Amino acid sequence: MKPQRFLAAAGIGSRRMCERLILEQRVTVNGQTMTFNMDVQSDADVRVDGKPVHASDESIYLALHKPAGYISDRGIPHEKSALDLVSVPQRLFAVGRLDKDATGLLLLTNDGEMAFHVTHPRYEHEKEYRVLVSGRPSEDTLDQWRAGIILHGEKTAPAKVWLESNARTTTQETWVRVILHEGRKRQVKRVARQLGHPVKQLIRVRIGAIQLGDLKPGEWRRLSAGEVDGLKATPPTQQPAMYFSDETPAQ
Ligand code: URA
Repeated sequence: MKPQRFLAAAGIGSRRMCERLILEQRVTVNGQTMTFNMDVQSDADVRVDGKPVHASDESIYLALHKPAGYISDRGIPHEKSALDLVSVPQRLFAVGRLDKDATGLLLLTNDGEMAFHVTHPRYEHEKEYRVLVSGRPSEDTLDQWRAGIILHGEKTAPAKVWLESNARTTTQETWVRVILHEGRKRQVKRVARQLGHPVKQLIRVRIGAIQLGDLKPGEWRRLSAGEVDGLKATPPTQQPAMYFSDETPAQ
Protein backbone atom coordinates (compact mmCIF):
# COMPACT_ATOMS: atom_id res chain seq x y z
CA MET A 1 0.00 0.00 0.00
CA LYS A 2 1.21 3.54 -0.70
CA PRO A 3 2.61 5.14 2.48
CA GLN A 4 0.32 8.19 2.48
CA ARG A 5 -2.64 5.89 1.86
CA PHE A 6 -1.67 3.69 4.82
CA LEU A 7 -1.55 6.74 7.11
CA ALA A 8 -4.83 8.10 5.80
CA ALA A 9 -6.49 4.69 6.24
CA ALA A 10 -5.33 4.65 9.86
CA GLY A 11 -7.12 7.95 10.46
CA ILE A 12 -3.98 10.05 10.89
CA GLY A 13 -5.35 12.91 8.82
CA SER A 14 -6.13 14.13 5.34
CA ARG A 15 -4.00 13.07 2.39
CA ARG A 16 -2.15 16.41 2.44
CA MET A 17 -1.53 16.14 6.16
CA CYS A 18 -0.11 12.60 5.73
CA GLU A 19 2.14 13.73 2.88
CA ARG A 20 3.46 16.53 5.09
CA LEU A 21 4.27 14.09 7.90
CA ILE A 22 6.24 11.92 5.47
CA LEU A 23 8.09 14.94 4.02
CA GLU A 24 8.97 16.06 7.53
CA GLN A 25 10.39 12.57 8.17
CA ARG A 26 8.21 12.07 11.23
CA VAL A 27 7.05 8.59 10.25
CA THR A 28 8.89 5.27 10.55
CA VAL A 29 8.08 1.84 9.07
CA ASN A 30 9.66 -1.09 10.91
CA GLY A 31 12.26 1.33 12.26
CA GLN A 32 13.11 3.02 8.93
CA THR A 33 12.08 6.54 7.90
CA MET A 34 9.01 6.35 5.69
CA THR A 35 9.51 7.47 2.08
CA PHE A 36 6.98 7.93 -0.71
CA ASN A 37 8.28 5.02 -2.77
CA MET A 38 7.81 2.42 -0.02
CA ASP A 39 5.25 -0.36 -0.27
CA VAL A 40 3.82 -0.55 3.27
CA GLN A 41 2.36 -3.89 4.35
CA SER A 42 -0.83 -3.77 6.41
CA ASP A 43 0.89 -5.44 9.40
CA ALA A 44 3.95 -3.11 9.37
CA ASP A 45 5.03 -1.38 12.60
CA VAL A 46 4.28 2.23 11.60
CA ARG A 47 4.93 5.09 14.01
CA VAL A 48 4.34 8.83 13.84
CA ASP A 49 6.65 10.83 16.12
CA GLY A 50 7.48 7.49 17.76
CA LYS A 51 3.84 6.65 18.56
CA PRO A 52 2.43 3.45 16.98
CA VAL A 53 -0.34 3.96 14.46
CA HIS A 54 -3.42 1.80 14.94
CA ALA A 55 -6.35 1.58 12.60
CA SER A 56 -9.41 3.03 14.36
CA ASP A 57 -12.52 0.85 14.56
CA GLU A 58 -15.72 2.81 14.02
CA SER A 59 -15.76 5.16 11.07
CA ILE A 60 -17.59 8.43 11.59
CA TYR A 61 -18.85 10.80 8.91
CA LEU A 62 -20.31 14.19 9.81
CA ALA A 63 -21.52 17.28 7.98
CA LEU A 64 -20.86 20.48 9.92
CA HIS A 65 -22.01 24.01 9.15
CA LYS A 66 -18.73 25.78 9.91
CA PRO A 67 -19.30 29.25 11.30
CA ALA A 68 -16.97 32.14 10.43
CA GLY A 69 -13.94 32.52 12.72
CA TYR A 70 -13.13 28.79 12.97
CA ILE A 71 -10.26 27.08 11.17
CA SER A 72 -10.62 23.58 9.66
CA ASP A 73 -7.51 22.14 11.35
CA ARG A 74 -6.69 21.81 14.99
CA GLY A 75 -3.58 22.55 17.00
CA ILE A 76 -2.93 26.11 15.81
CA PRO A 77 -2.38 28.24 18.94
CA HIS A 78 -5.01 30.92 19.63
CA GLU A 79 -7.28 29.69 16.83
CA LYS A 80 -10.74 28.17 17.33
CA SER A 81 -11.06 24.84 15.54
CA ALA A 82 -14.22 23.64 13.79
CA LEU A 83 -13.34 20.17 15.09
CA ASP A 84 -14.15 21.30 18.62
CA LEU A 85 -17.74 22.06 17.63
CA VAL A 86 -18.67 18.37 17.48
CA SER A 87 -18.83 16.03 20.44
CA VAL A 88 -17.84 12.50 19.45
CA PRO A 89 -15.13 10.42 21.14
CA GLN A 90 -13.24 9.70 17.91
CA ARG A 91 -10.43 11.96 16.74
CA LEU A 92 -11.75 13.56 13.57
CA PHE A 93 -10.23 15.68 10.86
CA ALA A 94 -11.70 17.81 8.09
CA VAL A 95 -12.00 16.52 4.54
CA GLY A 96 -10.49 19.41 2.59
CA ARG A 97 -10.51 22.86 4.10
CA LEU A 98 -12.64 25.94 4.32
CA ASP A 99 -11.06 29.34 5.03
CA LYS A 100 -11.42 30.80 8.52
CA ASP A 101 -13.72 33.58 7.31
CA ALA A 102 -15.77 31.26 5.06
CA THR A 103 -18.88 29.43 6.28
CA GLY A 104 -20.82 26.38 5.20
CA LEU A 105 -20.37 22.70 4.62
CA LEU A 106 -17.31 21.00 6.09
CA LEU A 107 -17.11 17.20 6.16
CA LEU A 108 -15.47 15.63 9.20
CA THR A 109 -14.34 12.04 9.51
CA ASN A 110 -11.80 9.63 11.00
CA ASP A 111 -11.83 7.60 7.77
CA GLY A 112 -8.66 8.62 6.01
CA GLU A 113 -9.35 6.27 3.12
CA MET A 114 -12.56 8.15 2.33
CA ALA A 115 -10.88 11.54 2.78
CA PHE A 116 -8.09 10.37 0.47
CA HIS A 117 -10.65 9.44 -2.15
CA VAL A 118 -12.76 12.61 -1.86
CA THR A 119 -9.78 14.96 -2.10
CA HIS A 120 -7.85 12.99 -4.73
CA PRO A 121 -7.71 15.11 -7.91
CA ARG A 122 -8.85 12.12 -9.99
CA TYR A 123 -12.08 11.64 -8.05
CA GLU A 124 -12.59 15.20 -6.85
CA HIS A 125 -16.30 15.74 -6.15
CA GLU A 126 -18.03 18.93 -7.14
CA LYS A 127 -17.98 21.72 -4.59
CA GLU A 128 -20.62 24.41 -4.82
CA TYR A 129 -20.30 27.89 -3.34
CA ARG A 130 -22.48 30.95 -2.92
CA VAL A 131 -20.11 33.86 -3.31
CA LEU A 132 -20.80 37.54 -2.61
CA VAL A 133 -18.41 39.55 -4.76
CA SER A 134 -17.74 43.26 -5.04
CA GLY A 135 -19.29 44.93 -8.07
CA ARG A 136 -21.20 43.13 -10.78
CA PRO A 137 -19.22 40.74 -13.04
CA SER A 138 -19.96 41.20 -16.75
CA GLU A 139 -20.92 38.25 -18.97
CA ASP A 140 -17.39 38.44 -20.42
CA THR A 141 -15.87 38.12 -16.93
CA LEU A 142 -18.15 35.19 -16.09
CA ASP A 143 -17.02 33.49 -19.31
CA GLN A 144 -13.37 33.88 -18.28
CA TRP A 145 -14.21 32.41 -14.85
CA ARG A 146 -16.00 29.49 -16.55
CA ALA A 147 -13.17 28.79 -18.98
CA GLY A 148 -10.44 28.97 -16.33
CA ILE A 149 -7.72 31.55 -15.73
CA ILE A 150 -3.99 31.29 -15.03
CA LEU A 151 -3.24 31.18 -11.31
CA HIS A 152 0.44 30.99 -10.40
CA GLY A 153 1.31 29.69 -13.85
CA GLU A 154 -1.37 26.98 -13.98
CA LYS A 155 -4.80 27.23 -15.57
CA THR A 156 -7.79 26.53 -13.34
CA ALA A 157 -10.16 23.81 -14.53
CA PRO A 158 -13.44 24.84 -16.20
CA ALA A 159 -16.07 25.86 -13.67
CA LYS A 160 -19.81 26.43 -13.71
CA VAL A 161 -20.51 30.06 -12.77
CA TRP A 162 -23.70 32.08 -12.86
CA LEU A 163 -25.32 35.09 -11.22
CA GLU A 164 -27.99 34.29 -8.66
CA SER A 165 -31.15 35.78 -10.05
CA ASN A 166 -33.26 36.12 -6.91
CA ALA A 167 -30.66 36.97 -4.29
CA ARG A 168 -30.40 40.47 -2.87
CA THR A 169 -27.95 42.07 -5.28
CA THR A 170 -26.89 45.70 -5.79
CA THR A 171 -24.49 47.38 -8.19
CA GLN A 172 -21.91 47.34 -5.37
CA GLU A 173 -22.12 43.60 -4.72
CA THR A 174 -23.47 40.50 -6.42
CA TRP A 175 -24.21 36.92 -5.37
CA VAL A 176 -22.54 34.47 -7.71
CA ARG A 177 -22.92 30.69 -7.71
CA VAL A 178 -19.72 28.73 -8.46
CA ILE A 179 -19.26 24.97 -8.94
CA LEU A 180 -15.68 23.67 -8.95
CA HIS A 181 -14.16 20.27 -9.61
CA GLU A 182 -10.80 21.08 -8.12
CA GLY A 183 -9.68 22.44 -4.79
CA ARG A 184 -6.66 24.67 -5.10
CA LYS A 185 -5.90 26.77 -2.05
CA ARG A 186 -8.30 29.75 -1.72
CA GLN A 187 -9.25 29.16 -5.33
CA VAL A 188 -12.55 31.02 -5.37
CA LYS A 189 -11.12 34.09 -3.68
CA ARG A 190 -7.98 34.19 -5.79
CA VAL A 191 -9.84 33.79 -9.08
CA ALA A 192 -12.48 36.37 -8.13
CA ARG A 193 -9.82 38.86 -7.06
CA GLN A 194 -7.85 38.34 -10.27
CA LEU A 195 -11.03 39.00 -12.25
CA GLY A 196 -11.49 42.30 -10.39
CA HIS A 197 -14.32 41.21 -8.05
CA PRO A 198 -12.92 40.49 -4.56
CA VAL A 199 -14.96 38.10 -2.41
CA LYS A 200 -16.88 39.60 0.51
CA GLN A 201 -18.57 36.40 1.67
CA LEU A 202 -18.15 32.71 0.82
CA ILE A 203 -20.56 29.92 1.73
CA ARG A 204 -20.02 26.29 0.70
CA VAL A 205 -23.44 24.76 0.08
CA ARG A 206 -22.59 21.35 -1.37
CA ILE A 207 -19.86 18.72 -1.70
CA GLY A 208 -20.80 15.99 -4.20
CA ALA A 209 -24.35 14.98 -3.28
CA ILE A 210 -24.07 16.26 0.31
CA GLN A 211 -26.05 19.46 0.76
CA LEU A 212 -25.58 22.01 3.54
CA GLY A 213 -29.38 22.14 3.63
CA ASP A 214 -30.87 23.80 6.67
CA LEU A 215 -28.02 23.16 9.13
CA LYS A 216 -27.47 26.37 11.10
CA PRO A 217 -23.92 27.67 11.80
CA GLY A 218 -22.34 25.39 14.41
CA GLU A 219 -24.87 22.57 13.83
CA TRP A 220 -23.84 19.16 12.52
CA ARG A 221 -25.38 15.87 11.53
CA ARG A 222 -24.24 12.36 10.73
CA LEU A 223 -24.15 11.41 7.05
CA SER A 224 -26.45 8.59 5.98
CA ALA A 225 -24.96 5.31 4.71
CA GLY A 226 -26.09 6.29 1.21
CA GLU A 227 -24.32 9.65 1.42
CA VAL A 228 -21.09 7.96 2.58
CA ASP A 229 -21.29 5.41 -0.24
CA GLY A 230 -21.78 8.28 -2.69
CA LEU A 231 -18.63 10.02 -1.46
CA LYS A 232 -16.60 6.83 -1.80
CA ALA A 233 -17.82 6.24 -5.33
CA THR A 234 -16.58 7.94 -8.46
CA PRO A 235 -18.60 11.18 -8.66
CA PRO A 236 -21.91 10.77 -10.48
CA THR A 237 -23.63 13.57 -12.37
CA GLN A 238 -24.31 16.06 -9.62
CA GLN A 239 -27.27 18.32 -8.96
CA PRO A 240 -26.82 21.97 -7.88
CA ALA A 241 -27.71 22.76 -4.26
CA MET A 242 -31.41 23.48 -3.75
CA TYR A 243 -31.18 27.06 -2.52
CA PHE A 244 -32.93 28.80 -5.40
CA SER A 245 -34.84 26.35 -7.51
CA ASP A 246 -35.32 28.51 -10.61
CA GLU A 247 -31.61 28.90 -11.35
CA THR A 248 -29.81 26.83 -13.90
CA PRO A 249 -26.04 26.69 -14.24
CA ALA A 250 -24.53 28.06 -17.46
CA GLN A 251 -22.85 25.31 -19.50
N1 URA B 1 -12.18 28.83 -2.16
C1 URA B 1 -11.73 29.77 -1.31
O1 URA B 1 -11.25 30.81 -1.73
N2 URA B 1 -11.82 29.53 0.02
C2 URA B 1 -12.36 28.42 0.54
O2 URA B 1 -12.42 28.26 1.76
C3 URA B 1 -12.83 27.45 -0.36
C4 URA B 1 -12.72 27.67 -1.70
